[in-house]
Amino acid sequence: MTGGDSPASGENAPSGSGSPFDPGPVAVLNINYIERWKSLSREAPRSGAGREGLAPVGQRKTLLIPAGLPGREKRMVAGSGGKSVKGVAFVKTKSVQEAKNGPALFLDLVFRNDPPGPSLREIPARLWEGVDRVSDQVESGTLIYAEGQEIVFNGENQIRLSRIQPLKATPEEIREYIPRAAVSATNGMERLREYLASLEDPCLRAVGLGLLDDPEVRQAFPVAPAAKKNHHASLGGLLEHTLEIMEMGHRIAPVLGLNRDLLLLGLFLHDIGKCWEISSRPGFSYTDEGRLVGHMYLGCEKVAQVARQIEGFPETYLRVLQHFILSHHGEMAYGSPVLPSTPEAMAVHFLDNLSGQVNAMRKVQPQDKDQWGFEKNRGAYIWKKGSDPSAWEHTPLGEGGRKVFDR
Ligand SMILES: [Fe+2]
Ligand SMILES: [Fe+2]
Repeated sequence: MTGGDSPASGENAPSGSGSPFDPGPVAVLNINYIERWKSLSREAPRSGAGREGLAPVGQRKTLLIPAGLPGREKRMVAGSGGKSVKGVAFVKTKSVQEAKNGPALFLDLVFRNDPPGPSLREIPARLWEGVDRVSDQVESGTLIYAEGQEIVFNGENQIRLSRIQPLKATPEEIREYIPRAAVSATNGMERLREYLASLEDPCLRAVGLGLLDDPEVRQAFPVAPAAKKNHHASLGGLLEHTLEIMEMGHRIAPVLGLNRDLLLLGLFLHDIGKCWEISSRPGFSYTDEGRLVGHMYLGCEKVAQVARQIEGFPETYLRVLQHFILSHHGEMAYGSPVLPSTPEAMAVHFLDNLSGQVNAMRKVQPQDKDQWGFEKNRGAYIWKKGSDPSAWEHTPLGEGGRKVFDR
């Protein structure tokens, strides 16, 4: 998803130079000072003199880049009035990339939102100047204080950073910035067990429940994210995603005349390898084994391991179950080495896709007063009001009804 973010794809550094960046040492803040820091930052002027105005907390020095950089805005459209953003943020990912004027810092930040919106908000952020001095002190999986302007670039909300400061925080404090699935681990795993226990075929039921009792699955499945970023990227996201599609599978099996046992087990298994492909630690980074072999292979390996512990487990059953895993992306271009070969495998692919696409769409942030946002992955505009007729402007047909589409 971040592939199009690179400077090479069109995001260029500002043409300005001569940063007054302060090269002094950066002292870490204890997170207990965050509230104090917030109030100080509200008082601080944005001019050069403002740097000294921030001095009272500990011995830290703030990291500044110039507030106005000529030429930077030329390629950008101000979004939400180019509103300023400041606050404590979790660094989900960090990379330093070569831009026109030197290295640029690319971050994915998570802010805690004020109610009533979603409690956490993830947004890309860019720092164009003074990167050499800052980059070693900002690490993914940590908290920083960040200030900048929220803009829209290539249709996507983004923060152009003007100031960042590393913060020291406990794991408990960091956890407050990690999204969590709506379903609880205990309830979710119980529902999963009910579905698997309801399978009529003894071989399929045995392997399903055997997987659920596998120590590695029991430990990882309740907390695993379903993705690093795109959909169900939360603690417990894999469980939430899996239950969503098993519920759908349970309902559509009789409508389409599908084998319910195979469909439900295929849905349970399709992403099980994500337990080991993506870390559930803050940042949800890919594991070494995940990068090396991917979740489809890891899932196939685990199913084979458990199936082989069941005496007399038929070989064909194992291959059919592995087929669900290997074909669920639906196309070779999307990483499936084989295409769905049974109606149940086709249904697994589409239900998986439906759950992922709808969840990704829900995460899109509105960018204007009319509640339009942009989903970069699909290159699609999303109307956040689209599911709520009470929020639409109602103009009767024949009385200038087209006005509703004027923007
Ligand atoms: Fe997958
Ligand atoms: Fe999936």
